[in-house]
Amino acid sequence: MQTRVLTGITTTGTPHLGNYVGAIRPAIVASRRDDVDAFFFMADYHALIKSDDASRIERSRLEIAASWLAAGLDPARVTFYRQSDIPEIPELTWFLTCIASKGMLNRAHAYKAAVDRNLEAGEDPDAGVTAGLYMYPVLMAADILAFDAHQVPVGRDQIQHIEMARDLGQRFNHLHGRDFFVLPEALIEEQVAMLPGLDGRKMSKSYDNTIPLFAGGKKQLREAIMRIVTDSRAPGEPKDPDNSALFTIFRAFASDTETEAFRRGLLDGLGWGEAKQVLYERIETDVAPMRESYEAFMANPAAIETILQEGARKARAIATPKLAILRDVLGLRAMRTAPTPAARSGAAPKQGRVPRLASFRDADGNFRFRLFSAEGEELLLSVSFADPKAAGAMQKRLKSPGAAGAVVQTRALGMVLEIDGEAVANTPDYRDEAAREQALAQLRDALDQLAAQD
Ligand code: TRP
Repeated sequence: MQTRVLTGITTTGTPHLGNYVGAIRPAIVASRRDDVDAFFFMADYHALIKSDDASRIERSRLEIAASWLAAGLDPARVTFYRQSDIPEIPELTWFLTCIASKGMLNRAHAYKAAVDRNLEAGEDPDAGVTAGLYMYPVLMAADILAFDAHQVPVGRDQIQHIEMARDLGQRFNHLHGRDFFVLPEALIEEQVAMLPGLDGRKMSKSYDNTIPLFAGGKKQLREAIMRIVTDSRAPGEPKDPDNSALFTIFRAFASDTETEAFRRGLLDGLGWGEAKQVLYERIETDVAPMRESYEAFMANPAAIETILQEGARKARAIATPKLAILRDVLGLRAMRTAPTPAARSGAAPKQGRVPRLASFRDADGNFRFRLFSAEGEELLLSVSFADPKAAGAMQKRLKSPGAAGAVVQTRALGMVLEIDGEAVANTPDYRDEAAREQALAQLRDALDQLAAQD
């Protein structure tokens, strides 16, 4: 089976060397693997949260698309698209918004940081905070869940967002009793070099210390490299490669042999000016052919448009049927048949009626228990326990939140509840798969209500 790997790029800037080494290059390498099904998209709805400058967004979308294509992304292999070409994403955002807890969103780092800044400045906590910023994690969850991505390569600052996407996916699955969404995992590339910028801090637009990848051509590349901060050691004096941003950047482009030679050069007193020239030439060797392709794309935006339209078509071939299922599950259905009142899985139990566990002794003198729904239907019959204390302890575990890691396995027409890999209880057999699915939702609700009771 292929692993679906999905990542988004917010379209507010123009790619720099740090983006290339940290995101673009590893993503493209991964996309060439046979066991990877890659989805890369431009998060232009997210860009609107950060910027209302239309021409900046337009330019950034074009530059980012051209950069990824020039860096070797193969649109026949990768599903490469714009978020704003996929109407299913905002639709799913709304479905997820309706189950997202406000408390969870209050804890999102970006929102919290904005609130903290306001408090520090003695302002209203929400001054200048848009609902867009607040909802950022839900939109991102929709990006991921709409395509059932398994892995999401992101920087460390985004881990919390992936956890929220998992939380929302899990919540939806649970509420509706079926695995509608794959729960994604963050993929943090430990080996990928974090590139230092001109001043030695992480290369980042927010520090204004970046070296452009393509923009400005080789002239700007060289000029930026010449501005990398070094210490004041003169030519002839030995340099310390391990404390040099210049050396770290070199290593991100060069082979081991080249890196060793450069290290020796620095230790032997290579002047910083010459070292910068060596670095520039090494980077230019990799970048020059890509830049040629970048410039060709930039001169022909219509070619990029065609590629992205085709990407949107491929992406929607997945998202459209998925959203059709979700709409149906939520009750947004065509009005053809009379609704079945009992079919609603998460229906609130009648006032005062709750699911309950009942213990009994079977004919062999062993101890067992049953779980009944609030409506009195039998949901589970436990295996038999020789020791009544063991039966009691198991009931206690079932009452703990999430039923203490219970897993429900389906078996033909029935289901088995397992804890720690041991079968603990069985459901009755149901008429068909649909009835079993419905019973699963009931069972999950009952376990939830049980956990909420005390
Ligand atoms: N928030 C991400 C960032 O700033 C960009 C992004 C938007 C994204 N949607 C996504 C990344 C979905 C991964 C998956 O880097």
